[in-house]
Amino acid sequence: MKRIIIQFGGTGDLALKKLYPAYQHLMEKEFAFEVLSLGRRYTTREDFLANSVDSDAPASFTDHLDYMYYDMADANVVALLAAKLKEMVGSETEVEFIYYLALQPSLYEDAIHQIKEVDASLDCVCTLTKKIVVEKPFGFDLESAQRYNEILEKAFTDKEIFRVDHYLGKEFMQNLLLMRFHNDIIRRIWDNRTIESIQIIFDETHGVDQRLGFYEKIGVVRDTIQNHIMQIITYLTMSEPASLSPEDIAVEKEKVLRSISSVEDYHMGRYESLGVNSGHVVQTPTYAAFKLFVNTYYFADIPIYVRTGKMQKEAKSLIYIKFKNITKEVMHDQGIAENAVIITIHPELTIDISMNLKMPNTSWKSKPVRFRFNQSETFGVNTPEAYEQIVQKILIGDKSLFPTMKEITESWRIVEPMLSEEQDVEVYPIRTLPRFATQLAKENHFTWFD
Ligand code: BG6
Repeated sequence: MKRIIIQFGGTGDLALKKLYPAYQHLMEKEFAFEVLSLGRRYTTREDFLANSVDSDAPASFTDHLDYMYYDMADANVVALLAAKLKEMVGSETEVEFIYYLALQPSLYEDAIHQIKEVDASLDCVCTLTKKIVVEKPFGFDLESAQRYNEILEKAFTDKEIFRVDHYLGKEFMQNLLLMRFHNDIIRRIWDNRTIESIQIIFDETHGVDQRLGFYEKIGVVRDTIQNHIMQIITYLTMSEPASLSPEDIAVEKEKVLRSISSVEDYHMGRYESLGVNSGHVVQTPTYAAFKLFVNTYYFADIPIYVRTGKMQKEAKSLIYIKFKNITKEVMHDQGIAENAVIITIHPELTIDISMNLKMPNTSWKSKPVRFRFNQSETFGVNTPEAYEQIVQKILIGDKSLFPTMKEITESWRIVEPMLSEEQDVEVYPIRTLPRFATQLAKENHFTWFD
């Protein structure tokens, strides 16, 4: 079978930074497929290749990477794409088209209509199967996500639709599920009888000015909270699935999301220099901090504190699970530290369990000591990039790493209040934590994990 990925947004940031490297690695691993990149930035394939892929990229990749100038606003574009695809199909008898939409959500509707027209005007004699891949954020809010989905589901069956959240392709996410569901000792401590609070910290050092065109319409809530952060919360708090099959996992994730009320306790900020070179005022939030609860029997009452955003001093991605500490009372020693599980994603994937053990040469004085798992030391550094895993699953038609529409819908509902245009956005100097993040910690009597 000949597979062709038709890459909408083929000259965009995501395609260049994440998708092409993933395609290249997969082709090196002998996955056979062609890529047709669509974009407006270059007129010829030569220009596209010269500017979009490494000059030392192997022929095993570039020979399978084609380009077509594609202006969605041009009335002839559908006929041109259909002709190009026909030429690529040639005399193949079995073909699969994978339409990959790495686009602004506002362009989805038009793109899907054009894909339908291309489909209708292709008079190929081959057996044709198709898939469609849509990037996050899927939609702009709850209403538009449902609207796009209606259009999508009219043109494609559920089996053919892949809604991407690349966090599900990340090793730490998959490890989180295995850690929880393949270890009886973890099961016994993983609920509101034992856990006191959870912190999710995703601080990034980079800004968004190089992709301002995309980001200024999106902001931090649509960019990472509605998708990546909500998915992390489901993995942290879902009950055990009947099996680790995609369907059984989805059932449990949906239950978690349905139990979360729309976020009320939140604050937004944007870094001071956002868009200074763009010549117009950009108010888009780039940082947020908030608190929510998962109201299920086993997780109710555990506050989950989240802070995430751009232009911070230090790149820090971690999940800090703090356990209750009654030993302080029982041992009459307020100095005893809390037990914790710390899952660090950046700079290195590690999982620490913090326990109190005796300090030598003291009389009954303890000190928190970390027991550490380090992914690269234990398993080597060749963990595939998230996008490689995602694309591989798309190629083989395995839907285990993709959020369902129900999950996406619930996630939009949860973050909806945070999308309001009518709210205070604190302006923070770059490399500093917005004041509200510190304030949230103060009001809730906790300290952000350092
Ligand atoms: C992307 C967002 O989905 O995720 C980016 O658009 C963000 O703004 C990125 O930086 C973070 O992903 P990763 O894989 O670098 O942790």
